[in-house]
Amino acid sequence: MTRTDAAAYYNPMGTTALITGASSGLGVGFAHELARRGADLVLTARRLDRLEALAVDLAEKYGTVSTVIPLDLAAPGAVAELVRDLADRGIRVSTLVNNAGFGLFGSMVDAPAAPVHDQVAVNVQALTDLTHALLPGLLGAALTHPQGAALVNVASTAAFQPVPRLAVYAASKAYVLSLTEALWYETRGTGLKVTALCPGPTETEFYAVAQRSTAGPRGLASVDEVMRTAFDALDTPRTPPHAVSGGQNRLLAWLASVSPRRTVVTVTGRLSRR
Ligand SMILES: NC(=O)c1ccc[n+]([C@@H]2O[C@H](COP(=O)([O-])OP(=O)(O)OC[C@H]3O[C@@H](n4cnc5c(N)ncnc54)[C@H](OP(=O)(O)O)[C@@H]3O)[C@@H](O)[C@H]2O)c1
Repeated sequence: MTRTDAAAYYNPMGTTALITGASSGLGVGFAHELARRGADLVLTARRLDRLEALAVDLAEKYGTVSTVIPLDLAAPGAVAELVRDLADRGIRVSTLVNNAGFGLFGSMVDAPAAPVHDQVAVNVQALTDLTHALLPGLLGAALTHPQGAALVNVASTAAFQPVPRLAVYAASKAYVLSLTEALWYETRGTGLKVTALCPGPTETEFYAVAQRSTAGPRGLASVDEVMRTAFDALDTPRTPPHAVSGGQNRLLAWLASVSPRRTVVTVTGRLSRR
């Protein structure tokens, strides 16, 4: 399949895409590529100044109309508020990118309660609630805009195995992967493209937020590389249930899936030492 195959190409031109976590890193990458492809955007995250600056940049570069909605997805009722806001503004979302997420490095016994709770609130609960609320609209959009409707949930290569010292984070991403693959199956034949994007270590603010100085021996991928994986997956006629970014990451994910769990967690435990 080539990108000239118009029947398979993901084309959100004239539709609206909502990106969570649009204030930095992969969220900004999604915003640029979706805008370049002609989508209007809903940009959400906590840092309003970042979102507003991005909206101006996208308007100048691509003529994009962006709606900026600052929101803390860990706050109770945040998703309901977002969905109400979209309805009040008459915005119909055709592509949902559940990208917001974070991890906190360290053993659980030493972790403060709030970030432990908030990792699940953002990475798992908000993603699930937003997907559930918007899924009927996404399926409707797949009918009116064939090739222009998608659900992308950002998981991680951490989804494929337990990771000591990133225990809650890795468990949350295993959930995202499992949920998304099940939804991929449930929505087969509807035209909605569904995939879980699984990046490996990537050059964003993730490690600063996680309070971890290094990504380990593998180095960091660029946001552009990860975006190529995401949009290649969307551009294929049979969008895969998950897409792992990078050959080495694909190999490691496969190895984790065929190796004994005790061995896998022992290896990841050794690798995740500071
Ligand atoms: N970078 C990596 O190595 C890597 C690898 C695999 C998977 N991922 C996943 O990729 C996704 C994007 O992360 P990134 O790497 O781009 O890191 P990042 O640069 O730190 O971006 C994270 C985004 O999530 C938003 N966010 C965090 N907590 C939030 C909250 N409570 N409410 C609303 N928004 C919130 C942040 O916005 P505000 O701070 O402005 O709210 C920010 O826009 C995450 O799901 C992450 O788990 C990253």
